[in-house]
Amino acid sequence: MNAKTVTANGVTQSVEAIVASHANWPGGLMPALHAVQHHVGFIDRSLIPLLAETFNLSHAEVHGVISFYKDFRTTPPKGPIVQVCRAEACQARGARDVFAAATTAAADLPVEVEEVFCLGLCTAGPTVAIDGALHCMVDAPKITTLLASAAKPRAEVTASAPKPPSSGDTVVYVPRDAAALAFGADRVAALFEAQPGVRVVRNGSHGMLWLEPLVEVATPQGRVAYGPVSAKDVPALIEAGMLTGADHPLRIGAVEEQPWMQRQQRVTFKRVGVVDPRDADDFVAHGGLVGLRRALSMQPGEVVTEVTDSGLRGRGGAAFPTGIKWRTVLDAPGTQKYIACNADEGDSGTFADRMLMEGDPFTLIEGMIIAGWAVGANDGYIYIRSEYPDAVAAMRAAIAVCEERGWLNGVGSTGSVLDSGFVFRLHVRVGAGAYICGEETAMLESLEGRRGVVRAKPPLPALEGLFGKPTVVNNVLSLATVPAIMADGAAAYAALGTGRSRGTQVFQLAGNIARGGIFETAFGITLGELVNDIGGGSETKRPIRAVQVGGPLGSYLPVDRFDLPVDYEAFAAADALVGHGGIVVFDDTVDMAAQARFAMEFCALESCGKCTPCRIGSTRGVELIDKITAGERHHLDTLHDLCEVMADGSLCAMGGLTPLPVRSALTHFAEDFAAPAGALA
Ligand SMILES: Cc1cc2nc3c(=O)[nH]c(=O)nc-3n(C[C@H](O)[C@H](O)[C@H](O)COP(=O)(O)O)c2cc1C
Ligand code: SF4
Ligand code: FES
Repeated sequence: MNAKTVTANGVTQSVEAIVASHANWPGGLMPALHAVQHHVGFIDRSLIPLLAETFNLSHAEVHGVISFYKDFRTTPPKGPIVQVCRAEACQARGARDVFAAATTAAADLPVEVEEVFCLGLCTAGPTVAIDGALHCMVDAPKITTLLASAAKPRAEVTASAPKPPSSGDTVVYVPRDAAALAFGADRVAALFEAQPGVRVVRNGSHGMLWLEPLVEVATPQGRVAYGPVSAKDVPALIEAGMLTGADHPLRIGAVEEQPWMQRQQRVTFKRVGVVDPRDADDFVAHGGLVGLRRALSMQPGEVVTEVTDSGLRGRGGAAFPTGIKWRTVLDAPGTQKYIACNADEGDSGTFADRMLMEGDPFTLIEGMIIAGWAVGANDGYIYIRSEYPDAVAAMRAAIAVCEERGWLNGVGSTGSVLDSGFVFRLHVRVGAGAYICGEETAMLESLEGRRGVVRAKPPLPALEGLFGKPTVVNNVLSLATVPAIMADGAAAYAALGTGRSRGTQVFQLAGNIARGGIFETAFGITLGELVNDIGGGSETKRPIRAVQVGGPLGSYLPVDRFDLPVDYEAFAAADALVGHGGIVVFDDTVDMAAQARFAMEFCALESCGKCTPCRIGSTRGVELIDKITAGERHHLDTLHDLCEVMADGSLCAMGGLTPLPVRSALTHFAEDFAAPAGALA
C-alpha cells in the first residue's frame, strides 16, 4: 500500500482526500485526525502542513492538538493496541496486577499495551480492549494469554455480505450493550439467529450487569428472562423449551419482577433494556416523543420554566440547576446558539451515559431537541469519549433514523422537526482519550478542534460557549431526563427526592461488588442501602473497607458513613461528592495510601497543564506520598499544605477536587500512611 493512499470497503482514496473531506466541518481538525488514524493507523508528522493549511491553523497548533490527546499516535503501532484499564473500579478488582503482567508480557510481543482510565465496564473489571474488542474479568494469566493470541498474525478478513435481519415469530432479546458484548453477547445472538422461526432483537441492558448476557424471550405471558447466558448454554436452553419460556436453571422470570428492578424508580432509564435502540417505532410505542410534542406546543420560555420547576440539577457532577442554565441561554442575545451534550463520562465507576446512549438513544435525541426549542438553538453536538465506540455507533445510527423520519434535520434537508417549523441538526463528535475534556470548557475547546485546555470563566458557556456563541452544556443524563419531565410534568419529577436534590439519581454500583449495575431511585437512599442491600456487599465476600463516590475526584468513605443519605447537600456536608452517581466498592485488602497516590498520579497525567497547583502540585503529591509511606512522616504536613494550595489555587475542579480523595484517605484511613516497621520516623 502506498503510504499516501488507503483502501477501505473496496474504495481507494488519498490521505489528502480524507483530510479535505473534513475541511468544511466546524472544528474539523479532530474528526480529520481520527479519520486519518483510522485509515492509516497513525498520523504521519509529514501531514502537519496539509492539516494546518486545510484548517487555517499554524503548524504548532496542529502539532499541539496531536500531542495533547493520548489517542493520536505519530508512529505506526507495532501491533494490535491493547488498552488495559488502570482506573479505580478496576483497581478494586485487581487491575494493578493485570497492568503489570501486561507490560511484562508485551515486552517481547508485537503488541502495543496502553493504559486507559475506564472503559465503562466497571462492574466486571479488570477490563481490557484489544483493537476495540472488550474483555472483562481479566486476571494476570488471562492477559498473558490474550496478548499472545493478539500477537499472532491474523488471516485477512474478507468482508462478508451484511446479514439480513433475522425474521420469525418468536422474538428473542439479546443485549448489544458493551457490557453484554464483553461477556460474549454477539456469539449468543448468532446462535439464536440461526434458530428457525426466531427473530433476534438487540436491546440495551436492563442494568443487572452480573446477569449479562441477559436473554429474554417474548411469550404470550410476557418477556421471560434467562441469565447469564453464554454461547455454550444456548443448545441446552433451546432443548429445555426456553423459546416458550420453559423452566431452566438460568431462568429468572420477568425482569420487572426482579427485586432489583422493583425497588427502583426508573424515570431516565425507563426504556433502557426494554426497547430496541435502533427501532423508532418501538421508541414511540413506549412513550417516546410525548415530551417533545408537548414542548413544541408550548412557548420556549414555558418549557424552560417547566424544567426549572422540576428541580432538575445537572447530572454531570456540578449539580447546577438545569432550568437556570437554559434561561441564561434563552435570554442571551443572538440567533446562533448551541446545545452541547457532554458524553465524555470519564469517571471510573460510571457507565450510565454509555448505557443510555446504547440502550435508548432516541430519548437523548428527544431531550436535545427539546433543549434546542427551549433556548433557540438549531444545532446540537454530542461529544462522546473514544473509549465508547458502541455508544458512538448507537447514536449515529439513531440520528440517521431521526433524519429519515423528519424528527431531525440532516444535511440538505428542508423540513422541520415533526413539521413544527423548528429546525434542529445533531452532530456526533468523538474525544481522543483526555479525561479533562469532560470539563465543559475543555470539551468546547475540543469540539472546536483544539487542545482540551480549560477556559477561565467568565464568560460562561451559556453566554459565550461553542464557537463563541451561547451554549447549553448538559450531561447525557440531564438531557435524557427532560423528555420525561415534559411528558409527565414538572410536579411529578419534583415530587421525588429530598431537600434540594429533586428527582432520581442513576446510581452506578461498581468495583468489588456482588451485584453491580444501574440502579435508578430517588435521592435520599443511604449509601449503606445501595452498597449492602442492593449491591449485596463485596463480590469477594470480604468485609468492605471503603467506597469512592463521585469518580476520581470524589472522597473515599468508610463503612461508618454508610448511614449517609445520598443527596447533594448531605454529601457536601460530609466533604464528599455525589458527582455522576458512581459508587466504587473496595474490600479490606485495599491500600488507601496507594489510592491517595493514584489520585495525585491521575491528576498529574490528566491535568490540562494550565495552572501550576494542578500541573506541578499533583506530581509533588505523588512524591510526597511515596516519602510518607517510606517512613518520612514529617512530610504529612507538607501534603496537607499542598492539598490546600491545590484546592484554593486551581482553576477547575480537576486540581481543585483532587485533594478530596487524598484528604479523605488521610482522615479515615490514617493507619495506611503509617511508617512500615523499621522505617525512619
Ligand atoms: C475534570 C472534570 C471532568 C468532568 N467530566 C464530566 C463528564 O465526563 N461528563 C459531564 O457531563 N460532566 C463532566 N464534568 C462537569 C462539566 O464541567 C459540566 O459541569 C457538565 O457537563 C454540565 O452539565 P450538567 O449541568 O448537565 O451536569 C467534569 C468537570 C470536571 C472539572
Ligand atoms: S486545575 Fe488542572 S485541569 Fe483544571 S485548569 Fe488548572 S491545570 Fe487545567
Ligand atoms: S472499566 Fe475500569 S474503571 Fe471503568
